[in-house]
Amino acid sequence: MLLPLLTLSLLSAAPLTAAQSAATQSAVPGVLPYQNAQLTPEARAADLLGRLSLAEKIGQMTQAERGAIKDPQDIARYFLGSLLSGGGSGPADNTPAGWADMIDGFQQQALSTRLKIPLLYGADAVHGHNNVPGATLYPHNIGLGATRDAALVQSIGRATAEEVAATGVNWTFSPCLCVARDVRWGRTYESFGERPELATLLSSEISGYQGTAGTPASILATAKHFVGDGGTTFDTSTNPDYLLDQGDTRLSETDLRRLHLPPFQAAVKQGVASVMVSFSSVNGLKMHGDKHLITDVLKGELGFQGFVISDWAGIDQISPDYALSVRSAINAGLDMVMVPNDYPRFIDTLTAEVTAGRVPVTRIDDAVRRILIQKFRFGVFEHPLTDRTLAATFGSAEHKALARKAVQESLVLLKNQGVLPISKSTPRLLVTGSNAADLGNQLGGWSVTWQGKSGNNVGTTGTTILAGIRAAVSAQTKVDYLDSRSNDITPAQVKGYDVGIVVVGETPYAEGQGDRSSLTLSPRDQAAVNAVCSAVRCVVVTVSGRPLILTDQLPRMGALVAAWLPGSEGEGVADALFGNTKFTGKLSFSWPRSMAQVPVGKPRDMGAPLFAYGFGLEK
Ligand code: GLC
Repeated sequence: MLLPLLTLSLLSAAPLTAAQSAATQSAVPGVLPYQNAQLTPEARAADLLGRLSLAEKIGQMTQAERGAIKDPQDIARYFLGSLLSGGGSGPADNTPAGWADMIDGFQQQALSTRLKIPLLYGADAVHGHNNVPGATLYPHNIGLGATRDAALVQSIGRATAEEVAATGVNWTFSPCLCVARDVRWGRTYESFGERPELATLLSSEISGYQGTAGTPASILATAKHFVGDGGTTFDTSTNPDYLLDQGDTRLSETDLRRLHLPPFQAAVKQGVASVMVSFSSVNGLKMHGDKHLITDVLKGELGFQGFVISDWAGIDQISPDYALSVRSAINAGLDMVMVPNDYPRFIDTLTAEVTAGRVPVTRIDDAVRRILIQKFRFGVFEHPLTDRTLAATFGSAEHKALARKAVQESLVLLKNQGVLPISKSTPRLLVTGSNAADLGNQLGGWSVTWQGKSGNNVGTTGTTILAGIRAAVSAQTKVDYLDSRSNDITPAQVKGYDVGIVVVGETPYAEGQGDRSSLTLSPRDQAAVNAVCSAVRCVVVTVSGRPLILTDQLPRMGALVAAWLPGSEGEGVADALFGNTKFTGKLSFSWPRSMAQVPVGKPRDMGAPLFAYGFGLEK
């Protein structure tokens, strides 16, 4: 009988490959399987992979910076799979529409290729869509860590995704899940806290960014920087340019797993689309070449199904021999390389390594499959161009209200001798300090430009803390501002005021440029605190990317509030100072008494910190 034979032959036939099953599933006339949105991302990727040449595959693994594209036709010529905007890199018309026009233009180039594979366009939207003027800018992660509010941070991810997608960007290099252990690190403020529990909890931002993959304003998120970026050792010899950044994390694998891996486990559980590898090393081995941690642990043990991207030219640091760097990185498990400039050189080098058999085609296929699955998953093939209906969300009142709420929840009250809340009808208020009226300083790094900058002419809009104070008080209250950045405050100037508010802190920085060996208040800020707090009841507010050493000034302070880097909605600080909202924030980092207590985790005989991790008064 035919049936058993047929059944037998079916049973004995080799299982269909994903590509074959794609081809046999609900075929639609005139539509290739990979073009059929009814099929699964995996099936579509398998079908498309089978159609790609080696050049097209390697193109998908290549990410170039927008500024490196001298001829837009290179996107098609090299089959590029992705472009990015580095910090502060935007179009001449630096508006949401200008971004959308730029990126749609790039997409048209990609769609002109034989198989019409659209681009992933990535940018660092790390506290809102911070490259673009007018975006809502939220508190940096150190402040969000103080909220311990996973739902709030998820909402911030969602709101940010709307503003990002409104500009044509479909991928953010965020959140940083770094567990910063040494606050001298210039990226401390990008960390949710010194313990893995906070980055684990607030990795909820990923599901905010990604939402329901494929729906409008759903963008790819990136868990970064894998792994141990916040655990590097202060050592000027490993990286003469930086004291800590991109340095060496010297830990047993047990401690590395305990301190730095949990946030990535949480990210993988949330289906994070991509993971960015850290510049740093683990016990002397560059993460960008660490096959055990990238392939065995992240992809194998944790089951990460997305794709792994390098950091900015990160593979170049593996070896002076570029070909060795390329093959070490790809064989270690990197799937996409943020080249970002000389992409022809990368493509030629990887092609030669594959042709010579030093990088297996199976590794290339695995990388491309991972990338294509995320492009199909997030609907990039169906919606490659900007959804212009999202423009109304950009810098919206709703988003600003969310940012203001985040500021309120991020504030940590460290001391209060009955000074707070300040009455809104206080007759005379004095406001001073380096960061009272400086939008750039309260935004911090990664704000319009990569490093950020001081002042109020910083390319975007926002409300300073001083402006928030003025808006919060009664019409009868007289608020005077003394600019202590360039003037010494004299006791005579302070006499007669009911309360003095002194807003001190840091100027902006990003990455290694923020590495510091000392964290004391600046001399001008120390002088302002001493002048005001020795004469009247005073409240000191710190605006900084990390705890600052202020032990000597503390006894004079009537109250002390840590405001971190609050972002564009400075009114949120005044809301709490005048009692419109309560203080609920808890320290995401222990506050050292002196630099001798840095990094955290030193032997107990170093004594207790000035304020412990988790500390925060409620009134
Ligand atoms: C930077 C940072 C990384 C960022 C990337 C792209 O060097 O290390 O966090 O996502 O380059 O701007």
